[in-house]
Amino acid sequence: MPKWLEDAVFYEIYPQSFYDSNGDGIGDINGIIEKLDYVKGLGCNAIWLNPVYDSPFMDAGYDVRNYKQVAQRYGTNDDLVRLFNVAHEKGIKILLDLVPGHTSDTHPWFLEAKKAQECETSNRYIFTKTVWDAPPQYRMMCGICERNGNYMVNYFSSQPALNYGFYEITHPDWQLPCDHPDCLATAEVMKDVMRFWLDKGADGFRVDMADSLVKNDDEKIATAKIWRGVREMLDKEYPEAAMVAEWCGPQRAINNAGFHMDFYLDHYGNGYSRMFRYGEWGDEAVFNPNGKGNIKAFADEYLPNYEASKDNGYISFMTNNHDMPRVTAYLDKQAIKLVNVFIFTMPGVPFLYYGDEIGMRYQADLVSKEGGFSRTGSRTPMQWGNGKNLGFSTSDTPYLPVDKAEDAPTVENQKDDPDSIYKVVKDMIAIRHKYDDLHGNGDLEFNFEEGKIPFSYKRGKLVMFFNPLGESAEIATEYTGTKVYELGSTELAEGKIKLEPQSFVMIEI
Ligand code: NOJ
Repeated sequence: MPKWLEDAVFYEIYPQSFYDSNGDGIGDINGIIEKLDYVKGLGCNAIWLNPVYDSPFMDAGYDVRNYKQVAQRYGTNDDLVRLFNVAHEKGIKILLDLVPGHTSDTHPWFLEAKKAQECETSNRYIFTKTVWDAPPQYRMMCGICERNGNYMVNYFSSQPALNYGFYEITHPDWQLPCDHPDCLATAEVMKDVMRFWLDKGADGFRVDMADSLVKNDDEKIATAKIWRGVREMLDKEYPEAAMVAEWCGPQRAINNAGFHMDFYLDHYGNGYSRMFRYGEWGDEAVFNPNGKGNIKAFADEYLPNYEASKDNGYISFMTNNHDMPRVTAYLDKQAIKLVNVFIFTMPGVPFLYYGDEIGMRYQADLVSKEGGFSRTGSRTPMQWGNGKNLGFSTSDTPYLPVDKAEDAPTVENQKDDPDSIYKVVKDMIAIRHKYDDLHGNGDLEFNFEEGKIPFSYKRGKLVMFFNPLGESAEIATEYTGTKVYELGSTELAEGKIKLEPQSFVMIEI
């Protein structure tokens, strides 16, 4: 297990929207290099970079055409290597995004595989035997290529699924077993892609749809086996490299598949959404001050997963990512401050999505860009300052429009504002680094009174008390100590803590 993960705080960068250094309207790698000091200044010591590979961008780069080539619009492979090097000089690690489940339908492997003649990559994708065979339980593209067969897609129609085989074979005429040499070869080419970038200086990967590899594998047994093989390779050849799964099942992802980290995703009804985004636009989220949330539902889901996986890896809370509406669509400013305090004081490895540190707003109603659809509103350019395109680009045609509101939050107008979300995020990350007890692997004792929202948790010598409600509350506690951090107004009293509406206090006992 790479030691650096214990105190890692990640910053997710959506490259097309972060900083445009050459005025073509699209963010680029040199732009990221220019902003590394900003990332470091926030206290983040690691970056997750969304896909930067050559792609037709039908799904914002999750449709890879060449895994070993940086997309021209972002720069060159040399630029990416320079990013690794400059980041490392500043103490920042870089995880690339690995997309192992599918390619673009313009990938040369697929262009060959869809031809009538058999070729080396005929089995790299999942084709039925004839076009007349299209079992409805599988998502198939039918009758659109020269080859006499339909092919399975993993996500959008432009993303044919790579073939890692089937765990349960229901159609033996076209489904290959996982140990078929061509299926084993698919895992090998992915390892080859990983080695290519690790050798150039990448520090690991965020793995897209990590649970999607083997088909008819409901328990994810064969899929986990593939990842364990990858983990063995990393342990042996790149012991400092890390992988975080887009899986949201830590017992499978961490314990069985060997991922170092697993994202706690916004799956409706799970613990993550219960905290931040549940109900009709968040009206049943625990952090909504209206008090309709259910902290027990969070604890019942999170705690068993945490307990079961904590010795093997980390659950990753995130402020948001590029796939869901920013939390500003659901909660008010004070609630969002509390959310950030929570995310940066829980165990695991936290992820901050670019722009969440200034409370960038979800831009509803934008026309979909590059397969974004409702996600487009969370992918708008970073708001740096008050100039053209809020400092993102000098172009007249930026990748997406920036927030047009007069009071659009920017780094410039928040960095010295004591009442800003930015200040809370920066303070909390600094406190997390300062206290070992708050690191990813520190202990957790979670406490709440059945049916009530105020809650607290203890991590080593530090105890966090939260009152997300719109009314005052008290929490009975055996602990006393000195205040380390406070939001809103709180009072330490005999046997209890009094908390004003939407407040928080951290004490050191
Ligand atoms: C998850 C990624 O986060 C998302 O943006 C993408 O569209 C799908 N996987 C398909 O690769």
